[in-house]
Amino acid sequence: MSIVIKSAEEIAHMRVACRLASEVLDYITPFVQPGVTTGELDRLCHDYMVDVQGCIPAPLDYAPPGHKPYPKSICTSVNHQVCHGVPGDKKLKAGDIVNLDITTIKDGWHGDTSRMYAVGEAAIQARRLNEVTYECMWKGIERVRPGGHFGDIGEAIQQHAEAAGYSVVREFCGHGIGRAFHEEPQVLHYGKAGTGEVMQPGMIFTIEPMINAGRRDIRMLGDGWTVVTKDHSLSAQWEHTVLVTETGWEVLTLSDGAPPPPVFVRA
Ligand code: MF3
Ligand code: CO
Ligand code: CO
Repeated sequence: MSIVIKSAEEIAHMRVACRLASEVLDYITPFVQPGVTTGELDRLCHDYMVDVQGCIPAPLDYAPPGHKPYPKSICTSVNHQVCHGVPGDKKLKAGDIVNLDITTIKDGWHGDTSRMYAVGEAAIQARRLNEVTYECMWKGIERVRPGGHFGDIGEAIQQHAEAAGYSVVREFCGHGIGRAFHEEPQVLHYGKAGTGEVMQPGMIFTIEPMINAGRRDIRMLGDGWTVVTKDHSLSAQWEHTVLVTETGWEVLTLSDGAPPPPVFVRA
């Protein structure tokens, strides 16, 4: 197996699937309030994807090797949950931070994106973690270019996270994406510039750093999916699906409600 280079036509399909994934987040944003359960957010997103967008929610019944089928349509990771939080009956409360991770399938093509939310008024430390993690994702995106190495992305993210006093989760990474949910390559969120495979125009992959306020160690809950920090420190994650262009990068998971890039990208 190697890294798939997408044709212009395939890229056009990916643009649609990716925009739709981002539009699910636009749709759900006003519902992320104290008192809502993560199960309710899952149901709303499921119905929007299926009934309004004509998409398939990729997580539902997704069963990679060694995992039982994922039982819900989105991932909701609250506070010390790192990723793959399974929606349920727990109500969000003011001060929580939560990641909503959406993967749509449209006409056989996958779009994958996630955002952090602060529920009500969150503490300054929690808001800073969300913000620095957003910057980490964009520090990675900025390093995407033909001829660059995947290690360039990892190094940029790790440097930014550790300079802020945070740690990078190692066990999960970004991934190639297209007709399959998870394709080659693995996009590490740590590492050394100049190492790893070389990026080429037409490659499409996610950048989705998981950043912990405390130590990087994680463990898996008994449900077989939900990943949490071992030390119970807060964890944040943002995700975009990105195309390598002839000159650099294009973020595919954009929509009207997507937050603007940090100032260091726009400048
Ligand atoms: N969306 C996640 C990712 O970014 C994967 C979720 S797999 C699931 O790769 F089964 F938990 F949904
Ligand atoms: Co992903
Ligand atoms: Co995702």
